Amino acid sequence: MKIERVVVVGSGTMGAGIGQLCAQQGLQATITDVSQELADKAVEGIARSLAGRVEKGKITPEQRQAVLDRLHAAGDLGPVAEADFVVESVVEDLEVKKKVFADLDARARPGVILATNTTSLSISALAAATGRPDKVVQMHFFNPPVIMKLVEIMPGQKTSAETLSAAEAFAVQLGKDPVVCKTEAPAGIVSRILGQLLNEATWLVASGVAEPADVDKAMKLGANHPMGPLQLIDLIGLDIHRAKMQTLRRELDDPRYAHPPLLDEMIAAGKLGKKAGRGFYPYGD
Ligand SMILES: NC(=O)c1ccc[n+]([C@@H]2O[C@H](COP(=O)([O-])OP(=O)(O)OC[C@H]3O[C@@H](n4cnc5c(N)ncnc54)[C@H](O)[C@@H]3O)[C@@H](O)[C@H]2O)c1
Repeated sequence: MKIERVVVVGSGTMGAGIGQLCAQQGLQATITDVSQELADKAVEGIARSLAGRVEKGKITPEQRQAVLDRLHAAGDLGPVAEADFVVESVVEDLEVKKKVFADLDARARPGVILATNTTSLSISALAAATGRPDKVVQMHFFNPPVIMKLVEIMPGQKTSAETLSAAEAFAVQLGKDPVVCKTEAPAGIVSRILGQLLNEATWLVASGVAEPADVDKAMKLGANHPMGPLQLIDLIGLDIHRAKMQTLRRELDDPRYAHPPLLDEMIAAGKLGKKAGRGFYPYGD
């Protein structure tokens, strides 16, 4: 099926970025949320960010306007009836996403693929909320979606080979360089490896081997990482990192994913990272 109209459900950090990406790649893109106000806010944010690119001479005013002309906002799932492809990017909550998938299934034309941008929830569980589990697939974008080249594509237990290839082709249409996983596994590739890296860095500090600044310095200078692992945890949020490790430990039933008690202590003390003004490092106001 030729993809011309895309609906992105959820207008947060990722949904807004995916909607912008689709419009920049020449598609008609509608970003939806639980209210018109939220969806409008996302489009206004994109308009402002594109204005900044015009000011810097990166794009012309006409190019900005062309993107905005292709970008639409909706406070409900009405536009899904016209969509050729749907990308779900609402909050990372299984019950919320299951309800969204049941609604999408009821509204989308038969044959339309319903993709989820979930980080670590079960694709099969979302597919089971629909009458088209063969058409449900994970397309995991990276932040910010307009910049990051990778899309991880993963099947659920019932995803068809055709759906998997169509999702891969769609990612290429969006200018991305996708990888396709062979089977369903929590947190895909990047999140799972990165989770372990960040966890190991936390264990090093917890067991008194090195100070956070030295752990970060070692990984920057010794492994050429652009940012230290503890700086990265501070950026992601210690609570978000812990939730991911808890999911991995539970779903994979593997003690390698255990996090150190230091992480619990820091979270209990409100040291959630940059967003809280303190984590492994202080951030002032
Ligand atoms: N933030 C990241 O770096 C990142 C990267 C890859 C994947 N993800 C995944 O993308 C998804 C969205 O993450 P985010 O960071 O954009 O979250 P966010 O909190 O910024 O945005 C979530 C949006 O979903 C909306 N929403 C909630 N319930 C809804 C519903 N029933 N219908 C429509 N919209 C609804 C909220 O109003 C909000 O605008 C999650 O599954 C997350 O795991 C996030």
